[in-house]
Amino acid sequence: MDRPFVFINSAMSADGKLSTKERKQVRISGKLDFERVDELRARTDAIMVGIGTVLSDDPSLTVKSPERREARKTAGKSENPARIIVDSSARTPLDADIFKKGEGIRIIAVSKSAPAEKVKKLEEKAVVIKTGAEKVDLPELVGKLKELGINTLMVEGGATLNWGMLSAGLVDEIYTFVGNLIIGGVTSPTFTDGEGFSEAELLRLELSSVEKIEDGILLKWKVKGKRN
Ligand SMILES: NC(=O)c1ccc[n+]([C@@H]2O[C@H](COP(=O)([O-])OP(=O)(O)OC[C@H]3O[C@@H](n4cnc5c(N)ncnc54)[C@H](OP(=O)(O)O)[C@@H]3O)[C@@H](O)[C@H]2O)c1
Repeated sequence: MDRPFVFINSAMSADGKLSTKERKQVRISGKLDFERVDELRARTDAIMVGIGTVLSDDPSLTVKSPERREARKTAGKSENPARIIVDSSARTPLDADIFKKGEGIRIIAVSKSAPAEKVKKLEEKAVVIKTGAEKVDLPELVGKLKELGINTLMVEGGATLNWGMLSAGLVDEIYTFVGNLIIGGVTSPTFTDGEGFSEAELLRLELSSVEKIEDGILLKWKVKGKRN
């Protein structure tokens, strides 16, 4: 395969929302799911989010458990997987938590029209990959990530990046934790936003497993491809 193995991990409410109408992170899962996600992070080569998530939540995307970080080091890896932001216009704040916390490589994917001055500043803190004229070209980006030695890529949202990756056919598996709450709101982000598929284009999934975790369920899906 000329791209990494790609999986999306997200937590959503019982009504399929990733966060509130204010687009601010809410706690959807509990301690056990937090540990599951930390373990997934520790096992992957890279974690990717969209700039919308960085601007809303400012996540550090680090591995939280000291034992898991130590195990990565023992295996000759850096404490944290590579952390990637998909950010066409180079809007990533220079003081984002992703730069401040934890060791390991940071990658900012920008488009060729991103402002040169800001790109230069980001290059002092991260590897900057330029793809796409106005918007990051996701297929090209994942190809470049593979060339950098990234074989497994965990996508942690948000709604628009999930759509970009799924609609480009770049996702192999999806893990969704469905929590015991309703968020509601027509503008609240859902698991997949973007343009949406028409009936002839619907993406088919195969259910791999269902697991009850605390008061929610974890669904694991394999992406089968377009319906026709
Ligand atoms: N519950 C969870 O598991 C979870 C996880 C993550 C996030 N969230 C929530 O999700 C929300 C953020 O989601 P979001 O949809 O606003 O933002 P997002 O998906 O994090 O980022 C979307 C942005 O990525 C950039 N992008 C660049 N190239 C793209 C491409 N080819 N395809 C798609 N996107 C591309 C676009 O901005 P540019 O054009 O400027 O590059 C786009 O607006 C927040 O409320 C956050 O709390 C929840």
